[in-house]
Amino acid sequence: MKFSLILILTLYLSAAKANDLHLFKKYPELKKIPHLQILNGPTPLHPLLKLEEKLYSNAGRAPENRPRLWIKRDDMSWGPLGGNKARKLEFIMAKTLSKHSTTVVTSGMWGSNHCLATAAAARKLGLKSKLLLGPQPVTKNVKSKLLTFHALGARTKYYGSKITMGLGLAKHYLWSLFDRKLFYIPPGGTSKEGMLGYANAFLELFEQTGLTNLPSEIVVPVGTAGTSAGLLVGSCLAGVWEKTTIVGVGISHGILSNERLVRSKARELYRFIRKNLSKKNRKTLPKCDFEKSHKALVYLKRYSAPGYGAANQEVHQGMRLMRETEGLILDSTYSGKAFRYYLDKVQSILKTGDRPMPRLLFWLTYNSYDLNTVIEEHHWSNPQRKWLDLPSKFWKLFE
Ligand SMILES: Cc1ncc(COP(=O)(O)O)c(C=O)c1O
Repeated sequence: MKFSLILILTLYLSAAKANDLHLFKKYPELKKIPHLQILNGPTPLHPLLKLEEKLYSNAGRAPENRPRLWIKRDDMSWGPLGGNKARKLEFIMAKTLSKHSTTVVTSGMWGSNHCLATAAAARKLGLKSKLLLGPQPVTKNVKSKLLTFHALGARTKYYGSKITMGLGLAKHYLWSLFDRKLFYIPPGGTSKEGMLGYANAFLELFEQTGLTNLPSEIVVPVGTAGTSAGLLVGSCLAGVWEKTTIVGVGISHGILSNERLVRSKARELYRFIRKNLSKKNRKTLPKCDFEKSHKALVYLKRYSAPGYGAANQEVHQGMRLMRETEGLILDSTYSGKAFRYYLDKVQSILKTGDRPMPRLLFWLTYNSYDLNTVIEEHHWSNPQRKWLDLPSKFWKLFE
């Protein structure tokens, strides 16, 4: 009873807000794809004036000879647990509800932002969540995440290696094919529906900038590639293909995350959109070469060292600079590495003096909400040793 009430309320809300989506305004036929509103609204776009002041104080260049620095604040996508996942979850959770599933199952590393956002969204919608969690370097933030998953009511499953985690994932995926109550969400929320959130995000950005202020580069971290692929498709739909470059900074380069993945995810999303349009409207879709264009997409692997969940001195220096100038907190796994590239790019432009001066956009995908607020609100059996409420396999990560 309670669940149906939530469902009706949610679908009502989604119907009321669906018209506002840029993607739906551009292609009204896509409104048949389930969507519900999680975001607070368009995320702010603003210049990084204090960072510019700091970086250019000794540059000795006239203002017109400096690259302009901008930021898209997806950290503010959904208060308080936003970040890039909120945009993906608007479509994923709507699909879950449309299928009458009652539990979502997904996976990530022990400190996964995606698992955090999924658990929070599930709780908001009255759904259960199950998280399959695999190994990464254990930091204070990872421990806080593990406690937060539990405090948000998620069931957590420990995996000690990527191989056992992969097997667990496959098992749950197969299980979800037979059990309609269970909805499987791929790692990072990178499904066709999830990626739609970022195609829409590009259209949102384009409405904010127009053609005149469109950034020359948009810098974004790449994990499961849904965010970057979505933006790439968005740039195609907006009709500004190759007028801006999506710079995907690979945060763990290898067989699971690489340039080919971004390009193939973009193609997959484009085909999904095409399939949902009538024959007549398919003809109006811009044609874009996702496979080859190096003007529309640049993928960088050199910022992934020393590996997933670990960061070097330069990354930490960049994170400090952002905190001290703009008061923004980045994470060392994703946004910190992308920001390191961003700073290096500014320095290289200052050396070479590119003309015309580029407009560089940093897309902030991380939400730095203080998880202690959620952890402290929860009733723990032993407040001194909270982790004892987690499955026992996790205990060694705390002791
Ligand atoms: C903060 C942050 N930025 C970027 C990403 C990468 O996004 P994607 O997996 O869509 O490539 C993630 C993925 O978890 C993330 O948590």
